[in-house]
Amino acid sequence: MPIRADRPTPAAGTALPAAMPNEHALDLIARRKSTPAKMLTDPGPSREEITALLRLAMRAPDHRKLEPWRFIVVLGDGRHRLGEVFAAVRTRREPAASPQSIEEDRQRPMRAPVMVAVVSSPVEDPRGTPQWEQELSAGAVCQNLMLACFAAGWAASWITEWPAYDRDVATAIGLSPSERISGFILIGTAREDPVERDRPDPAAKITWWED
Ligand SMILES: Cc1cc2nc3c(=O)[nH]c(=O)nc-3n(C[C@H](O)[C@H](O)[C@H](O)COP(=O)(O)O)c2cc1C
Repeated sequence: MPIRADRPTPAAGTALPAAMPNEHALDLIARRKSTPAKMLTDPGPSREEITALLRLAMRAPDHRKLEPWRFIVVLGDGRHRLGEVFAAVRTRREPAASPQSIEEDRQRPMRAPVMVAVVSSPVEDPRGTPQWEQELSAGAVCQNLMLACFAAGWAASWITEWPAYDRDVATAIGLSPSERISGFILIGTAREDPVERDRPDPAAKITWWED
């Protein structure tokens, strides 16, 4: 079920339900699973479908509506351009790196048909909204995007790897000094379905304060 490019989201002011019981939505969260990068292949969503997915992703909690995130969507030959950036930065940082490992960096963006860089763009808010909250909002955007991909029929993976933490990569792809990569979301089609992994035990994670 591909996502319709013009799939609407409610306009501001639209009355919305405070809760929306939906067994399928619960099942979707329960069964969502990343597909490792090496298991992704063509096809991927079109530019229009990606826009629709990002419209859903942007419906993330965001204290004071600062919209402290943006996206760089890398697809088609844009992936080669990004691969050249990774390879050039790696070569500069590590001149002794083997040609094979430089080539691996060059090929990183080619592992999926679409790679979305979710950029955390915190602002200096005179009202004092902490940067931490703005970064958390970017993380929520990433997870919304993962869920939207899954529900729209696309396999996806949220990765960072070294390029997400490299300031030269950041500069080369147009990030300002205050911006960071929250994640590269790889989107495509799974070569084969993933298998569930161990999940946390609620009893080990929850502290109850009841009286
Ligand atoms: C911020 C962040 C960065 C991640 N970076 C990587 C990464 O670079 N490489 C990787 O294999 N997994 C990375 N992961 C883990 C995968 O995205 C994923 O969470 C894990 O494979 C389990 O996925 P699942 O919950 O869908 O089963 C990262 C996860 C997060 C939240």
